[in-house]
Amino acid sequence: MAGLNFGVTVAVLGVLLLSASRLSSGVEVYEIALPHGSGITVFIKPGTPTLPMKLCHIISSRRKETTLSIKSGDKIVFYFSCQDPENHFVIEIQKNIDCMAGPCPFGEVQLQPSTSVLPSLNRTFIWDVRAHKNIGLELQFSHPRLRQIGPRESCPDGVSHSISGRIDTSLVRIGTFCRNGTVSRIKMQEGVKMALHLPWFHDRNISGFSIANRSSIKRLCIIESVFEGEGSATLMSANYPDGFPEDELMTWQFIIPAHLRASVSFLHFNVSNCVKKEERVEYYIPGSTTNPEVFKLEDKQPGNMAGNFNLSLQGCDQDAQNPGILRLQFQVLVQRPQDESNKTYVVDLSNEQAMSLTIEPRLSKQSRKFVPGCFVCLDSRTCSTNLTLTSGSKHKISFLCDDLTRLWINAEKTITCMDHRYCHRKSYSLQVPWYILQLPVQLHDFSWKLLVPKDSLSLALVPAQKLQQHTHERACNTSFSYLLASAVPGQELYFGFFCSGGSIEQIQVKQNVSVTLRTFAPNFQQEASRQNLTVSFIPHFKEEGVFTVTPDTKSKVYLRTPNWDRGLPSLTSVSWNISVPRDQVACLTFLKERTGVVCQTGRAFMIIQEQRARAEEIFSLEEEVLPKPSFHHHSFWVNISNCSPASGKQLDLLFWVSLSPRTTDLTVIIIAVVGGGALLLFALGLIICFVKKNRKKKITKGPAVGIYNGNVNTQMPMQPKKFQKRRKDNDSHVYAVIDDTMVYGHLLQDANGSFLQPEVDTYRPFQGPTGDRPPSPPPICSRAPTAKLTTEEPSPGFLPESESEPYAFSHPKDGNISNGNTDTPLLDAHKPTEPGE
Ligand SMILES: *[C@@H]1O[C@H](CO)[C@@H](O)[C@H](O)[C@H]1NC(C)=O
Ligand SMILES: *[C@@H]1O[C@H](CO)[C@@H](O)[C@H](O)[C@H]1NC(C)=O
Ligand SMILES: *[C@@H]1O[C@H](CO)[C@@H](O)[C@H](O)[C@H]1NC(C)=O
Ligand SMILES: *[C@@H]1O[C@H](CO)[C@@H](O)[C@H](O)[C@H]1NC(C)=O
Ligand SMILES: *[C@@H]1O[C@H](CO)[C@@H](O)[C@H](O)[C@H]1NC(C)=O
Ligand SMILES: *[C@@H]1O[C@H](CO)[C@@H](O)[C@H](O)[C@H]1NC(C)=O
Ligand SMILES: *[C@@H]1O[C@H](CO)[C@@H](O)[C@H](O)[C@H]1NC(C)=O
Ligand SMILES: *[C@@H]1O[C@H](CO)[C@@H](O)[C@H](O)[C@H]1NC(C)=O
Ligand SMILES: *[C@@H]1O[C@H](CO)[C@@H](O)[C@H](O)[C@H]1NC(C)=O
Ligand SMILES: *[C@@H]1O[C@H](CO)[C@@H](O)[C@H](O)[C@H]1NC(C)=O
Ligand SMILES: *[C@@H]1O[C@H](CO)[C@@H](O)[C@H](O)[C@H]1NC(C)=O
Ligand SMILES: *[C@@H]1O[C@H](CO)[C@@H](O)[C@H](O)[C@H]1NC(C)=O
Repeated sequence: MAGLNFGVTVAVLGVLLLSASRLSSGVEVYEIALPHGSGITVFIKPGTPTLPMKLCHIISSRRKETTLSIKSGDKIVFYFSCQDPENHFVIEIQKNIDCMAGPCPFGEVQLQPSTSVLPSLNRTFIWDVRAHKNIGLELQFSHPRLRQIGPRESCPDGVSHSISGRIDTSLVRIGTFCRNGTVSRIKMQEGVKMALHLPWFHDRNISGFSIANRSSIKRLCIIESVFEGEGSATLMSANYPDGFPEDELMTWQFIIPAHLRASVSFLHFNVSNCVKKEERVEYYIPGSTTNPEVFKLEDKQPGNMAGNFNLSLQGCDQDAQNPGILRLQFQVLVQRPQDESNKTYVVDLSNEQAMSLTIEPRLSKQSRKFVPGCFVCLDSRTCSTNLTLTSGSKHKISFLCDDLTRLWINAEKTITCMDHRYCHRKSYSLQVPWYILQLPVQLHDFSWKLLVPKDSLSLALVPAQKLQQHTHERACNTSFSYLLASAVPGQELYFGFFCSGGSIEQIQVKQNVSVTLRTFAPNFQQEASRQNLTVSFIPHFKEEGVFTVTPDTKSKVYLRTPNWDRGLPSLTSVSWNISVPRDQVACLTFLKERTGVVCQTGRAFMIIQEQRARAEEIFSLEEEVLPKPSFHHHSFWVNISNCSPASGKQLDLLFWVSLSPRTTDLTVIIIAVVGGGALLLFALGLIICFVKKNRKKKITKGPAVGIYNGNVNTQMPMQPKKFQKRRKDNDSHVYAVIDDTMVYGHLLQDANGSFLQPEVDTYRPFQGPTGDRPPSPPPICSRAPTAKLTTEEPSPGFLPESESEPYAFSHPKDGNISNGNTDTPLLDAHKPTEPGE
């Protein structure tokens, strides 16, 4: 090589002289002096594409060279034999920095030697920093930040940065980067090799980066990207498009402005053949409760992330025979969320008391597809995934969430009356306030906790529109329902779901109760005007609940006992006050033939009492079959009182009431008569009716003892003195009375298995409604409608009734409701809600 050079030098001496002469006519002469110990080497060599060598030479010490190498401590003067050396030569300036041998020169990196002394050739500055295995090195790039480019791309302005790391002795390419990107820092360990390419025409005289030492990063590298606005970045795994080093870990960190959202998508990837561990990506996402979120490379990657996040690629131990290749090219897209991002809503709770409002992520099934990044911000500053606002102040909130259906609102308000003198007969209107309805987030639950002093007040709830109880037979399909549950700690009692459009006029509850308005469809906002429930404080009564029902002629009213799928709580009594209009007759039908309840202590009872006649029938729910469909010409009470049942043998009853015009009785009868052949039947019916009538008459002779229809507003019974409580125990339990009744009652059991009212004294005054007028005479005959109605009914055993019926509401099939969000059910299946939840 040296010999060849020498020969060439001798051969072209003439040319050299010519150059020398040109020298005097303005050819630039360069002098490069490298101080001792600088660790710098300058190398000038033919560029690519290589042009014929004879066209240009480096002339140094009067010799023609094709390469020139200048080492630390050298001082070399040279010039080029042609006018356009930039087309022939490139210059490489390498600086070795050995942090293991001595202190590391951290800080701003200089271009050395200064670009002003270098010839205008394509330049590559290389810094080769070696450090201990556990020292982290961080390259920090000042503006403009860097943009990674793919293997066959080049930078528009020709300025590029090639960055490599080191694993033991092998070099790992981290990537090639142009200017104008998002990469602000690259952290590596063990060493870094950075090559800055500057084209000859570029007058850049600064490196644009600095180096800092950091503690160990425990991985191959960390690349930090900073977004200042909307934009995107494409990034690649180390060595891309070649394989990612085996069993390595690489992390990308992303700094995203608070008002924007980031989404990750994998553009290209391949996975290797792992023998140990699994190749995967892991995310740390703000707001995620399951960090790190682990995804396979094949998975759909998360989107709409708000806030800074990081992403790590973890390799595996590859199969030595057939390692395959792990590589990844991905894009991060940062965008403005579509809407709502800078609308501010005022939630003024300054006039509220004992109220809280929570905007939180909707309960959803845990899935790997969890997409976080849905925030509620207070005063546009502090954003969180779950925000609770409390009463007493005014709150300004905004949303950073492009899919607001992922949030819902739960609110709770406590209305307490502690002084019965003050709140007796006072009433409140329970309505979802407008400041909740204005929010772009769906209300889930609004709970009113209604608290009254123990044993002195009870509550009456009167809805603006009559309510329907949600049952399997007639499911609620409205956009909202009220869930009524006891709010007494330890009392597991929920009355059920009630929605508007039924026959329940009033619900009275004995003590502390929570009324929860739960929405089931996004169109609640439109139907919100239909919600208005008035609660008033009324004198205390003994039953857990009293339902006032005024059926209409059009449809059956389905009613069922509280705590449906767990059974009526033990020693609990509930009543239904069922009105029958003057010209109608009501048919009362029970779903089951038997209740199946097995009592451990006490007795389970049902009393059906005609309000006017005060004639009652008492049924033991344990032993007897439930009554066959029966007809009532006047308003009547149904009272169900539970014993303390054996586990698994709970009491639950479903019954329905339907009305039919009284006149049909006659018509049908006449038809029956005219039709002939029914004469005998008719006569038979007459006999039965008379028997019934007689029985009722007999009953009405007895004292008015509707002991279980504890009622609020009614005055003391007709003969208060005579029928006062005899038990010393003031709280003498109603069930003790039942037991006593039973003692006498069994003697009076009639053929149908129902009890006649004992004509003996009772232990509690009648508190139920007392019709002043004598009972109207029993029907002449109601056999025909009986037959007709019962055949219309499906046989009791026909209706399937699951014990664990989920309180699931059918979906309204409105087109405008299903707004494309198929992941989130519009209506949710509900487990029975715990009281006070
Ligand atoms: C110098 O770099 C430019 C691109 O930046 C390239 O087109 C040119 O070929 C290079 N010159 C040499 C001699 O390598
Ligand atoms: C960087 O961005 C600036 C402003 O947008 C533009 O003028 C410049 O040409 C860009 N440079 C490169 C290398 O893309
Ligand atoms: C780089 O060049 C600019 C002018 O182009 C000059 O102001 C600056 O001092 C130079 N910096 C260095 C480090 O030479
Ligand atoms: C950086 O280097 C300095 C001196 O070399 C040392 O004192 C310091 O602890 C190092 N910092 C880290 C984070 O390694
Ligand atoms: C890499 O994955 C692509 C699909 O993503 C596939 O078409 C290609 O064959 C794979 N290459 C290798 C080398 O496995
Ligand atoms: C990733 O983010 C999490 C949470 O912000 C942080 O604890 C972790 O240190 C980060 N990891 C890296 C490598 O940046
Ligand atoms: C969002 O805020 C910016 C500036 O604060 C304003 O220019 C823009 O109109 C707002 N957008 C909406 C939808 O309110
Ligand atoms: C939101 O916060 C409230 C109050 O701290 C808490 O009860 C609720 O469970 C939280 N919701 C979620 C989804 O984390
Ligand atoms: C109802 O709540 C009030 C207020 O918390 C309490 O004083 C009262 O004892 C509760 N009633 C019952 C039956 O627990
Ligand atoms: C809800 O059910 C009632 C009958 O129960 C029916 O008349 C009404 O059309 C239903 N509404 C919707 C939206 O399905
Ligand atoms: C709600 O009902 C109460 C009592 O009936 C009434 O005073 C109030 O005006 C109603 N509110 C609305 C908005 O209908
Ligand atoms: C029973 O219901 C009727 C009709 O709604 C009502 O007039 C009557 O006052 C109720 N009785 C009691 C005791 O609440």
